[in-house]
Amino acid sequence: MAARERQKVQYGDLREYLELLQKAGLLKRITAPVDLKFEIGAICARALERKGPGLLFENITGYEGKPLVSNIIYSVEQLAVAFNTVADIDEIYAIIVEGHRNRLSSITLETGPCKETVRYGGDIDLYEIPTPWWHELDGGQYIGTSSGIVTRDPDTGILNMGTYRCMIVDPKTLTSSGQIYGHIKKYEVKGLPTPVAVVMGMDPLLTLASGSPVPPDAHGRMEYEAAGAWRGSPTELVKCETSDLLVPAHAEVIIEGEVLPGTRMPEGPHGEAGGFYGQRLDAYPIQVKCITHRRNPIAYGIICLLDEDYPRWLFRSGAFEARIKKESGLRSIRSAYFPELGGRNWGGVIIAADIKDPAEAGKIIAEAWKIVPDRWVIVVDDDCDIRNWNDVMWRVVTNVRHGRDLYPGKAVRNGEKTGPVRGGRNPMADIDNDIPDPTGIDATFRFKFDNLPPVNKVGKELMAKVAARWKELGLP
Ligand SMILES: Cc1cc2nc3c(=O)[nH]c(=O)nc-3n(C[C@H](O)[C@H](O)[C@H](O)COP(=O)(O)O)c2cc1C
Repeated sequence: MAARERQKVQYGDLREYLELLQKAGLLKRITAPVDLKFEIGAICARALERKGPGLLFENITGYEGKPLVSNIIYSVEQLAVAFNTVADIDEIYAIIVEGHRNRLSSITLETGPCKETVRYGGDIDLYEIPTPWWHELDGGQYIGTSSGIVTRDPDTGILNMGTYRCMIVDPKTLTSSGQIYGHIKKYEVKGLPTPVAVVMGMDPLLTLASGSPVPPDAHGRMEYEAAGAWRGSPTELVKCETSDLLVPAHAEVIIEGEVLPGTRMPEGPHGEAGGFYGQRLDAYPIQVKCITHRRNPIAYGIICLLDEDYPRWLFRSGAFEARIKKESGLRSIRSAYFPELGGRNWGGVIIAADIKDPAEAGKIIAEAWKIVPDRWVIVVDDDCDIRNWNDVMWRVVTNVRHGRDLYPGKAVRNGEKTGPVRGGRNPMADIDNDIPDPTGIDATFRFKFDNLPPVNKVGKELMAKVAARWKELGLP
């Protein structure tokens, strides 16, 4: 579906977004005292389960006057405010895909609100920022759960921003892990420290771009420019105080630092979106050199869970769909869906295609594995509602035969190192060492039957027609 014409978004930063959410009844201010240690995390988890509003905690014990917000980008209603569109997931999805394809260049300002206060040396204390112990077995306070970690590729000069969890180690040190290593290893080969900026409290579109894969386009335009396209106005950037990294001018807090070559340290455990605790022995310590922030900054954090304040499936699906279409050149691919089922590094992706020859599904599976080698891949005909498990599984169990429709894949074991957790036994060790090889499933009907009866689904056009009459029929 093509994204319809829309006006640029009605907010310029996180604060204005929160005001809009509140006006729409999608944010609740909580003035009762709450505790950073597990209580805020549990409140967020319960509110997510109950599909509740966003939460602005204004009375955190020991942190009076320092608010923290969560649960603000997970519901379709909140996303409709963030994208300034209708509360329709297909519409939002179309905007995401379009923004991946056509980025909007950013602009760099002399200065911005994130520089209202600048702290160096003895003025730096990460513990001044209200940072929850999110889950009961977390090994520390995770300050980076919704933040964007910005680094620059020293070879190409291209910036990257990604959401990689960060744990506070001491007042001037935090750890990070994950794909940030791609850049760190290039600096380490040159014997140089890696400049890093941890951007906290971004507008919702930057937060969404940061947490999902946004490979740079041919002009080196990355997450900032995808968010610019979604927003309908360029992302405004400022230069860091201690490096040449560029960061969003309207963010609440910027933590500037560096990872010294060869330095590693344990972090975790931390509850992850795959449904388990995870931990690394070789995370990258970021030595903080400077913190800049707005006056009275608002902290923003996410409890990572199977259900969390981030619609991973929506963003992974959009990014994957744009990428497989571009990189495979296969014109038969119509849409893709990442249900985000499965823990850790595995899970599945479903691809709907207009199959034109019997070998097509196999080709699509091979192309998908070039991008996501650890994932199960299910290919279905394009009349399938790929977000509906019932429809997908109906095709699998009705149709799939051994020797004809199943393809063996090979997982890439990226060897995340795990260590002991509190209580002695490391529950992650078995799982990490046993990433199963994925399977490709051709669940398409076309070309497999001589006399396949028509599928008795209501046609898309007829469905759209009755949908247009829904209000008139008095239906909710
Ligand atoms: C709430 C949240 C937390 C995340 N935490 C991590 C993490 O700790 N480590 C990691 O490698 N990826 C993490 N991710 C996933 C990355 O942000 C995601 O893979 C993103 O595409 C990385 O950006 P990049 O493709 O520019 O490297 C997280 C995503 C979200 C939404």
